[in-house]
Amino acid sequence: MSEEKNKEPMKGLSRREFLKDAGLVVGGATIGSMAFISGCKTTTTETTTVAGSTATVTKTTGTTVTSPPSTVTVTGTPVTKYVDPIDGTEWPTLDALKAHFAAVRPLASLAGNFVNLIVNGTNYYLQVGDMEMLAFTLREKLGLFGTKIGCDHGQCGVCTVLVNGVPLLACLLLTIELSGSKIQTVEGLSDGVTLNPLQQRFYDNDAVQCGYCTPGVLMAATALLAAKPKPTAADVRLALSGHLCFCQNMTFTVNSIAGGV
Ligand code: FES
Repeated sequence: MSEEKNKEPMKGLSRREFLKDAGLVVGGATIGSMAFISGCKTTTTETTTVAGSTATVTKTTGTTVTSPPSTVTVTGTPVTKYVDPIDGTEWPTLDALKAHFAAVRPLASLAGNFVNLIVNGTNYYLQVGDMEMLAFTLREKLGLFGTKIGCDHGQCGVCTVLVNGVPLLACLLLTIELSGSKIQTVEGLSDGVTLNPLQQRFYDNDAVQCGYCTPGVLMAATALLAAKPKPTAADVRLALSGHLCFCQNMTFTVNSIAGGV
């Protein structure tokens, strides 16, 4: 049982490994999937990982394939050309493409994972680590320090941001899995000069003390108000149930959101 359980994370790693193997994520798609695929009428045999959405991979055993036992048979339409989406050069194998990419863009090839994030309306093309969390990316790479990190374990809510309009914990999200997503942080609520109506309500009601939990609360409240413009106090308390305020200032906070702004 425990052995089976231990196998589960490998599925995720395999997927990530696949993405990594496929090279670099460009505009939400891997280089492998962006490669131009030309038709091949014959069935071929490969021993390496196959990238390309139309290829079907079947592991063969015993009588079908005589040697070696680990051989993988590829049917359907194999990938026969790999194209660098940046300079358009064509390569016969994924390894050749990766070697080319490393040669012409040595820095970009160090880690190999690229994501496209739309953060507060701005399009970013970022290189990220395999296990890099969104909270880290936002703070350390984009300088958006409004998103706080508290527990770093999904328990305090201070890292809440909106991902495609849904309030999620940035400390638990792998950036590599968010390519193409629209992220909104507390910096995206106003123009940097004038507070938005919700922020103004917080200010007017003294709904902040130390302020550390405030960005996460504002983002959760923003999502709540988008779904229910006139929430009750009970609605607000439910929506903020995952947010810890150590100043015990929640009554002012709830009052600032309930009834809408
Ligand atoms: Fe993400 Fe606490 S830092 S929930």
